Amino acid sequence: MTAAYKLIEHHYDVVVVGAGGAGLRATLGMAVKGLSTACITKVFPTRSHTVAAQGGVSAALGNMGPDDWRWHMYDTVKGSDWLGDQDAIQYMCREAIPAIIELEHYGVPFSRTDEGKIYQRPFGGMTTHFGEGIAQRTCAAADRTGHAILHTLYQQSLKHHAKFFIEYFAMDLVMDDEGRCCGVVAWDLATGELHHFHAHTVLLATGGYGRAYFSCTSAHTCTGDGNGMVQRAGLPLQDMEFVQFHPTGIYGAGCLITEGVRGEGGYLTNSKGERFMERYAPNAKDLASRDVVSRSMTIEINEGRGCGPEADHIHLHLEHLGAEVIKERLPGIAESARIFAGADVTREPIPVLPTVHYTMGGIPTNHHGEAVTVRDGNPDAVVPGLMAIGEAACVSVHGANRLGSNSLLDLVVFGRAAAMRATELVTPGRAHPEAPAASIERILDQFDKLRHASGEIPTAELRLQLQRAMQKHAAVFRTGETLREGLEQVRVADRAFSDIRVSDRSMIWNTDLVETLELQNLLPQGVATLESALNRLESRGAHAREDYPERNDNEWMKHTVCWTDEQGACRIDYRDVHMYTLDDEVEVVPPKARVY
Ligand code: FUM
Repeated sequence: MTAAYKLIEHHYDVVVVGAGGAGLRATLGMAVKGLSTACITKVFPTRSHTVAAQGGVSAALGNMGPDDWRWHMYDTVKGSDWLGDQDAIQYMCREAIPAIIELEHYGVPFSRTDEGKIYQRPFGGMTTHFGEGIAQRTCAAADRTGHAILHTLYQQSLKHHAKFFIEYFAMDLVMDDEGRCCGVVAWDLATGELHHFHAHTVLLATGGYGRAYFSCTSAHTCTGDGNGMVQRAGLPLQDMEFVQFHPTGIYGAGCLITEGVRGEGGYLTNSKGERFMERYAPNAKDLASRDVVSRSMTIEINEGRGCGPEADHIHLHLEHLGAEVIKERLPGIAESARIFAGADVTREPIPVLPTVHYTMGGIPTNHHGEAVTVRDGNPDAVVPGLMAIGEAACVSVHGANRLGSNSLLDLVVFGRAAAMRATELVTPGRAHPEAPAASIERILDQFDKLRHASGEIPTAELRLQLQRAMQKHAAVFRTGETLREGLEQVRVADRAFSDIRVSDRSMIWNTDLVETLELQNLLPQGVATLESALNRLESRGAHAREDYPERNDNEWMKHTVCWTDEQGACRIDYRDVHMYTLDDEVEVVPPKARVY
């Protein structure tokens, strides 16, 4: 073992990595059930990226008109372009209702109707009567819903004595020879100490990898650290080709302007002042699903009808909503538009552009949150000791395209489900087996190597190469040619990681080393994204191939499962989409043309 490092040992029933909405909901659920639970997080919990979620969380509560969780399920399957697993989607939409009521009881300060019920607004792709009407299903706390949920869950977790390890960077999973996950090694950024957490179950809730791109709504911390750990553990990631572009990122800045703006009646126009969404989605118009709206905006710009001197963006209008509605329902975006676009939203439109927002792919799991892999012909083989939830996971409820406000829902429903599963799997206080020394040695050796890396390329420079290649080549529209070119560039960057330079050797607040560890996670995710996209010869959801413009259910209604080895080589296999439900109560939603 690398002699220079002394490990501080901890023993917990369960270790949760990540303290966003998913991690906190799971931590709370486990702590409530009496499991000794540690939550390791690289940022202070209430700074996790969930804090930036604006528009709301979906649940068919029916507070503002008729609703039914089966309609929600139908919308989610259709939104996923029939790549979502229907058992998991059924579970999420059905459990949405108790999960949101629980949040209300925990103290989330939702906006209210005049009758005192939770306020719900329309969101893209959310309908009533299986596509007939517009649903008001998205529960909102003004335009700061994620903030409200995150603060409440953190307070509840503290109340139930969960133990937090804050500003600890989780470096890698400890895996034994049988492929069981039995812990995690983490670095305390404030003291420089290294910690070894023994756990019967490790739950990854580490979020997405939006920062593989140059322009995204994601926080700088969204580097898919759990996905990177899983890749290094020799496990696969699923459906990495599906990256969501949110239609309304602020032009130039990338900050999110919530879809709730269009839910409240806002609309998009091109340089001719046309409400062009009427042409692309005659029924849902500006409230079509995100992939449809982002493609329509891109076509408008590509065909010369973009706004501004460079004809390179679109206008989002909410002036007509009036100052009172904006102040009550959308105060945060009024502030963001003023600060980042210099726009007074009561008088002028916001310049917007499709911006990377969400990564549908991630760690394959079942609907209990257990990580799965394809092994010995079994496509659903559980990885013992490992779970994943939230944006890090691919359960898969979002399939090829996620509907807005289904993300906060995914976090709370599967955070709750994972806590229930862990309670079934783990007996509190059970002794831990001896830790696998080889796995720990490998982790410490790699850490030491990076800490002393003295190559030619600064981390920030290599990260920029990755981000520019992803932005240009894994975009809203793709072709085999652009993807191949992007893959070549990202592979060059991936190989160059061996020549990285870390300028600071310190163990305390060494942000250069943190960013290098993050880049180590980002690079193979970029490779997996491009390989998977190049491999899928069809268009589905967010994966729009100009050279294969049609969806091809005969050949491609299957999940991509991608392993990436230490040299960056990928191996691809497939898992069937779950075209079955949990019980006889609901029928499968059969595939059909997806129009809005
Ligand atoms: O537009 C939004 O408020 C984002 C919501 C989401 O991604 O679910």
